[in-house]
Amino acid sequence: MIKTKSLTKVFKVGFRGRKVTALEGLDLEVKKGEIFGFLGPNGAGKTTTIKILMGLIYPTRGDAWIMGSPLGDVSVKRRLGFLPENPYFYDYLKGEEFLHFYAQLIKMPKRDRKAKIKDILSLVGLKGAGDLQLRRYSKGMTQRIGIAQALLSDPELVIFDEPMSGLDPVGRKEVRDVILKLRDEGKTVFFSTHILPDVEMVCDRVGILVKGRLRSVGNIEELLGGHIKSIEITARGISESVLKEMEPLVERVIKRDESLLLSVEKEEDAEKVVDIIQSSGGRLYSLIPQRPSLEEYFMKEAGKR
Ligand SMILES: Nc1ncnc2c1ncn2[C@@H]1O[C@H](COP(=O)(O)OP(=O)(O)OP(=O)(O)O)[C@@H](O)[C@H]1O
Ligand SMILES: [Mg+2]
Repeated sequence: MIKTKSLTKVFKVGFRGRKVTALEGLDLEVKKGEIFGFLGPNGAGKTTTIKILMGLIYPTRGDAWIMGSPLGDVSVKRRLGFLPENPYFYDYLKGEEFLHFYAQLIKMPKRDRKAKIKDILSLVGLKGAGDLQLRRYSKGMTQRIGIAQALLSDPELVIFDEPMSGLDPVGRKEVRDVILKLRDEGKTVFFSTHILPDVEMVCDRVGILVKGRLRSVGNIEELLGGHIKSIEITARGISESVLKEMEPLVERVIKRDESLLLSVEKEEDAEKVVDIIQSSGGRLYSLIPQRPSLEEYFMKEAGKR
């Protein structure tokens, strides 16, 4: 759905035309039906990439294709939905009026508008809010009406620039839910963010951009690898003497009411601990492998030069 080859953008800034490389040699591929998270800290070049894809600015070098067509193809633009970073809407309009206005802009047949807008409002969870002025919307609602606007043309591919920024956990969840619904409808979603847990929760694949360069790309499982940091075991009914027996295998012990939370580093040690718990008549409640979070991975990648 999206492909870029050596995509590069150099800005000239200031009086002397000092060069700022916002994006350098980006090679990226986004497949049909996937949710792709474009992750990077402030100033990484995410918005620059998205602006190039949307045809708002031109690359200095390199090429990009959307749905197989080179950038600038007008017929492709119609099949593309876009939510810019910090969207600003006419806030005296009511939600529904705003969408009618856009429907008119994209020349949606009049007879389809009402039903379509009703469907989209319900898809983004704003069913009851169509009659409310946008200035009364919360930030989360504003983001979602922006997403609704991006969906009016029933695009196959949607590109969102920071759809979760500035939202509280509830608002972020609402936007995540919309993104998941879009995937269920078979759409391809490409969105940028610096909020890791959101990416972890919804994305099929992520690309990590740092200082204009793509550091890594892949599915989250692959990126974090099979690396297991530790294994957390919860058990009950463990006597002090049994605990003593396990101590050499265990990294950390936390007592919580009746339960014991044991943190073990190696898989083979975890197996031994489980054996001890069970043969001593204790009860095993859970065994959870702890992976490094995307956050830890990201900090590592962002720190590299
Ligand atoms: N029009 C411009 N002129 C000059 N420099 C620019 C311009 N637009 C962006 N830049 C620079 O390019 C770099 C990348 O900016 P960009 O907005 O793409 O980052 P971003 O990843 O979207 O960051 P954020 O998370 O803050 O939105 C930054 O150093 C920025 O200052
Ligand atoms: Mg940006």
